[in-house]
Amino acid sequence: MKLLVVGGAGYIGSHTVRQLRAAGHGVVVLDNLSSGHAEALTNGVELVRADLLDYPSVKAALEAHKPDAVIHFAALIEVGESMRAPARYYRNNVVGSLNLLQAIVDTRKVPLVFSSTAAVYGTTDAVPIPEDAAMQPESVYGETKLMTERMIHAFHTAHGLPYTILRYFNVCGAAPAGDIGEAHPSQSHLIELACMTALGQREKMMIFGEDYDTPDGTCIRDYVHVQDLADAHVLAVEALNAGKTDAATYNVGLGHGFSVKQVLDAVDAVVGTPLDREIAPRRAGDPPRLVADATKIVQELGFAPQFTDLQEIVQTAWNWHKGHPHGFEK
Ligand code: UFG
Repeated sequence: MKLLVVGGAGYIGSHTVRQLRAAGHGVVVLDNLSSGHAEALTNGVELVRADLLDYPSVKAALEAHKPDAVIHFAALIEVGESMRAPARYYRNNVVGSLNLLQAIVDTRKVPLVFSSTAAVYGTTDAVPIPEDAAMQPESVYGETKLMTERMIHAFHTAHGLPYTILRYFNVCGAAPAGDIGEAHPSQSHLIELACMTALGQREKMMIFGEDYDTPDGTCIRDYVHVQDLADAHVLAVEALNAGKTDAATYNVGLGHGFSVKQVLDAVDAVVGTPLDREIAPRRAGDPPRLVADATKIVQELGFAPQFTDLQEIVQTAWNWHKGHPHGFEK
């Protein structure tokens, strides 16, 4: 197949591009490079530098490259920032996605795979969380993803657009080769921050709350390796192309969780020295447990994650950060 990967120069996008190429698919990336990196695209993958808010450019890219399907990663992703700058998030994530949907139905009406998030659920009592759990996002970021999910469904109903929505849990790790990985302008994710601390770029690790109703008192998350998540996109787009699915939504996670302390213990073991830790107050908006019920993607798409050992997951992140202490900057 030939895929247009929107936001393909970002963290999850670039790993997915690599797995798509490994599976024998052709790829063209459309990215505005606001947070992505052209350096993350290896093996001569073509990059179209364009912004989803620029409808004519998006339509022109679809007409020029004639993809068989589109995978859409492009979004602003910081929960805290989304609360401080909602207009930016609604415009970029919702209006941008609307332009993409419109351009798809105005041109080739090819299937769409969309990257959504566990943030659409908000705080829920369900553990693990099934796809049909109530959706009450607690952040503008989660709200923009839910709004986009609903737009996609409306385009399916009105125009027959086939789609698959993937709701990611906590994405982490890096390509085992160590040459691409997480490189965001503002780091906020636990494993990434722990690696920066181990590199001496931060003084210590803060543990946001030790008084949760969990076995060790810290929050539990479902950490899915970015390469496994990338493989989930390959499975999703191939199932859409084969007509096996046409309006599906899947959680992507391992189906079990690790606590903040377990993650930090794994980082200590991988790095070889214990990081300084300090117990801090709870972070606003953190639910105690977020674990995917991943049964549906396993059964329907044959999702079979390779990275299930926490230390192995952390090792890939550490290899990337150690080799690239300033991300893609020299
Ligand atoms: N944490 C710490 N110290 C830190 C950083 C994080 O204790 O320095 C804790 C957090 O409080 C949380 C856990 O580590 O309990 C994981 O935090 P992350 O920031 O790594 O990830 P989140 O669970 O907040 O975020 C993830 C995705 C978001 C998505 C969200 C849905 O990365 O994109 O889940 O709730 F929106």
